[in-house]
Amino acid sequence: MIQAGSIKGLAVISLSPESMLLRILQDGRFHSGEAIGLELGVSRSAVWKKIKKINASGIASIHCVKGRGYKLANEINPLNPELHFQGVNFSWAVGLIDTVDSTNAEALRRLNSGISAPFALVAEQQTAGRGRRGRNWVSPYGENLYFSLALRVDQGMRQLEGLSLVIGLAVISALKNVGVSDVSLKWPNDVLVSGSKIAGVLLELTGDIADICHVIIGVGINANMSTAGSEISQKWTSVLRATGLQTDRNLLLTALQNQLDKYLGLHWTRGFSALKDEWERNHLWQGRSVFLSAGEKQISGRVVGVDASGALRLVVDGVEQRFSGGELSLRLQDDS
Ligand code: BTN
Repeated sequence: MIQAGSIKGLAVISLSPESMLLRILQDGRFHSGEAIGLELGVSRSAVWKKIKKINASGIASIHCVKGRGYKLANEINPLNPELHFQGVNFSWAVGLIDTVDSTNAEALRRLNSGISAPFALVAEQQTAGRGRRGRNWVSPYGENLYFSLALRVDQGMRQLEGLSLVIGLAVISALKNVGVSDVSLKWPNDVLVSGSKIAGVLLELTGDIADICHVIIGVGINANMSTAGSEISQKWTSVLRATGLQTDRNLLLTALQNQLDKYLGLHWTRGFSALKDEWERNHLWQGRSVFLSAGEKQISGRVVGVDASGALRLVVDGVEQRFSGGELSLRLQDDS
């Protein structure tokens, strides 16, 4: 692994040599094996081995022409984030990882090793991406956005109330910024386009919520994924599928961080109650009849909105009840 290197002034950390090689070829021109070897500090035959590895993996396809060198067969769009995000309200360090089990798990490990928050991580690929309710988050190489932001929370529950819903608002705004229309939310934070899931949010807490703790805000956005086999059990889409256009993941990442900065700023200063109406306007199933699943238990009710803490308000048998918790999920009733 190459640690804390730099390509064209952009910060990179934990990139594999194959990933560095792809970044050299990113300009679409021919590069000789010798020149690539010099940049990577390896021999020409080591370069050839890495090219064979990349071609075999299916991550990219590289042409080899005698006397000219190597050239990418198709355009690729590697992540090239700036080392530091500077927003209006917050700033944080950004780390780029090539392949990781889960950016949330890695953020947790970094917190446990004493790295101080805030910091963000973005990866080209996750091998064990985590979804809500113990699900797996399909995370192929170079196609989507896998992002985690670790924040320190020192005002306990007050600072966390409604937070996961607010992140959903930031994600839909970022998607609108890159040209996706008709984006809406499904409580608590599924992001949908025409009923198909385009993005998900997973918040994980560590520490003592009565005192000082950390929250890891994990966001997965399907960007350029066009097929996923049968791995995803629910209806899904991506920016590519929704708009018909490949999206620049670097622009999407910038949009996401700017919107997180904006919405976290509003949430931190004014609380979720200031964003509740906006959230309800974006809730696809507002007023609809739903089933709420909590493990084995299923509750039938009508959605009336959310409360100031982000809990779901359902009218069940004529009486309003409130529900919150990470294990809950909603399903539309056929007759609504
Ligand atoms: C969901 O099930 O809707 C939540 C999906 C969250 C996926 C993201 S991808 C980046 C971060 N790392 C993970 O392992 N999960 C989150």
